[in-house]
Amino acid sequence: MADTLTITDNRTGKQYEIPIQDGTIRAMDLRQIKVKPDEFGMMTYDPAFMNTAACKSRITFIDGDKGILLYRGYPIEQLAEHSDFLETSYLILFGELPTETQLAEWSRDITMHTMLHENIKKFLEGFRYDAHPMGMFLSAVGALSTFYPDAKNIFDAESRRLQMVRLIAKVPGIAAYVYRHNIGRPFVLPDNELSFSGNFLNMLFKMTELRYKPHPVLERALDVLFILHADHEQNCSTSVMRNIGSTHVDPYSALAGAAAALYGPLHGGANEAVLRMLNEIGSMQNIPAFIKRVKAGEERLMGFGHRVYKSYDPRAKIIKRMADLVFEVTGKNPLLEMALELERIALEDEYFVSRRLYPNVDFYSGLIYQAMGFPLDMFPVLFAIPRTAGWMAQWEEMLTDPEQKIARPRQIYTGSAPRDYAAREKRR
Ligand code: CMC
Repeated sequence: MADTLTITDNRTGKQYEIPIQDGTIRAMDLRQIKVKPDEFGMMTYDPAFMNTAACKSRITFIDGDKGILLYRGYPIEQLAEHSDFLETSYLILFGELPTETQLAEWSRDITMHTMLHENIKKFLEGFRYDAHPMGMFLSAVGALSTFYPDAKNIFDAESRRLQMVRLIAKVPGIAAYVYRHNIGRPFVLPDNELSFSGNFLNMLFKMTELRYKPHPVLERALDVLFILHADHEQNCSTSVMRNIGSTHVDPYSALAGAAAALYGPLHGGANEAVLRMLNEIGSMQNIPAFIKRVKAGEERLMGFGHRVYKSYDPRAKIIKRMADLVFEVTGKNPLLEMALELERIALEDEYFVSRRLYPNVDFYSGLIYQAMGFPLDMFPVLFAIPRTAGWMAQWEEMLTDPEQKIARPRQIYTGSAPRDYAAREKRR
């Protein structure tokens, strides 16, 4: 017998058998529950989507209690150890690890699309010298939609693949241009001989040398950070990507919206917020007072807590280990001691323990980025580069899912009952 949920409506005494599939009932099956036939029917109320699955997905699996993260079934720890970002992005987008030939073709495709149109350069030059990199980044991504009108062809699989390649290939260039604009240095052209991450470092940090040589430890560390950030199932920015994409707009416009969602300090902006928090705390002796303010609800311990993970974020574990390798090259980030002490206190403190608040991906990543020479406001951009692969995979999955339609939540109206327009002089 199929699993069902029996609901008794005590207003009418009627019983309903609602089918259960994948531990879930369909919200639309509740619509039949009515007192009178002309009623709208029962809805669910779920602000912030705490308990609502909006899609079926084969891309990323998270078990928040056990701290498990899988891309297409592969544990994040194994990918971080053995894979590289381009291979992982192929896996996320197309469902399988590429063969050698597929990987060579994928890498060549990405490399062939790294150049940016000169007008994007001009567009970025229009920003003030101190414009936030994430504001520039998301504007430039949105602007790309005007350069590639063919991207509107969203039901053509080949066109979709081309936009995936273009976006993954071009976001490092945009990020690097944004950075160089802020520090007043000329833009650097991509070097096709370098790896994805190596070329990104080249476009960021090349000075007068003829050829930029990325430090292999930093190049690998950045690549691993990119792997860790590539996808994270239905988080806020991914839901935005799917929602905007569900209107059938081009992927550049949808991705600009997703990047805007990522910019927020509760999401991808948290890595920047962690460093600002550590700077504000200032020294070890101020930590107890800071923790007191957090517990009083006056502050948030940034880089802690997660909607899904109720144990240590597996990405944070990998990043913490990697920080040691990076600091051997760059020297220790002086803020590390403070971060370790905050973590030590939080993991013992009843407030954090009872709420199951653990370090998330953003707690240690910023310390690495800073040690590598990135300014704080570049951190969310460094999150957006790899997440572009995840956003595009989720966009593709949404578009090819026959169950999906334009996203359109319902509301419970709590405003005024119908009333007549009042003339201005009669208003009180
Ligand atoms: N510091 C102090 N208290 C916290 C924190 C925190 N970082 N996070 C959650 N809490 C408390 C919160 O006040 C609430 O307490 P109470 O039950 O007494 O009201 C309880 O824990 C549950 O929190 P919530 O706000 O209901 O949890 P949520 O699932 O809505 O929020 C979160 C998740 C990530 C937005 C939140 O934990 C947070 O603001 N963390 C800091 C920002 C951060 O690090 N964000 C990065 C998330 S990981 C990467 C990404 O997604 O981009």
